[in-house]
Amino acid sequence: MAAPHTDGGAPETVVHADAGSLAEDAATRVAAAMRAAVAARGRCVLALSGGSTPRLLHARLVAMGADALPWPRTFVTFGDERGVPPDDAASNYGMARDTLLAHVPVPETHVLRMEGERPPADAAERYEAALRALALRLDVADDDALFDLVLLGVGADGHTASLFPGSPALDEGARWVLDVQAPADVAPRDRLTLTFPALARAREVLVLATGAAKRDAVARAIAGDAALPAGRVRGRARTTWLLDRAAAGA
Ligand code: 6PG
Repeated sequence: MAAPHTDGGAPETVVHADAGSLAEDAATRVAAAMRAAVAARGRCVLALSGGSTPRLLHARLVAMGADALPWPRTFVTFGDERGVPPDDAASNYGMARDTLLAHVPVPETHVLRMEGERPPADAAERYEAALRALALRLDVADDDALFDLVLLGVGADGHTASLFPGSPALDEGARWVLDVQAPADVAPRDRLTLTFPALARAREVLVLATGAAKRDAVARAIAGDAALPAGRVRGRARTTWLLDRAAAGA
């Protein structure tokens, strides 16, 4: 069982007028985290989020210019993936490739893709091995953060990554990656996800949420409601929620 770690305290919440200004602020924060990581450790490890919210953020990061950020010193991982191949419209990797990775100079060998096209249990084991190999390569101590910044979204049910309320995956205390099933009304059901022990290896967590449908889940998660997976993730140094007015209930 991973040793408990002190987290960065209560989350900071920032409310923006709309998704555009939220994406602008998120891009500034991602850029600052990347620069700080490279200045301190010579490299940056990001975990990208899936879904649709990150699209605007990715566009802002691309608009900064290919040389504006230390992409060549950055490793890109993923918080979760759907059980589909990269070219499927539902692929989180495919979305990140098309909206960000194809437009910035991150080395292909620095992108750790969850292999959604593989049998789920095999893909989960392979991704865990890849993450642990990265930690070894970067000489990350067992009690230190592996991810400099983890980007997350949240669902109206309070899920984050592909950790859904009531899932047995929420009780995992050692594995970093699991294959899970999303609820019957959420497609695709086959998912790969980082677990809480993996997310606990985040130096900083940045959660992006827009839209009124998420308002109740956002309020409960920010208050730390442990029944909601999104309420249980904290960065070791900092946890920030960026909301638009609708998600904030403002
Ligand atoms: C996924 C995500 C998931 C997502 C939320 C919000 O694979 O779906 O990782 O956790 O962040 O469901 O999704 P939207 O940004 O599309 O609202």
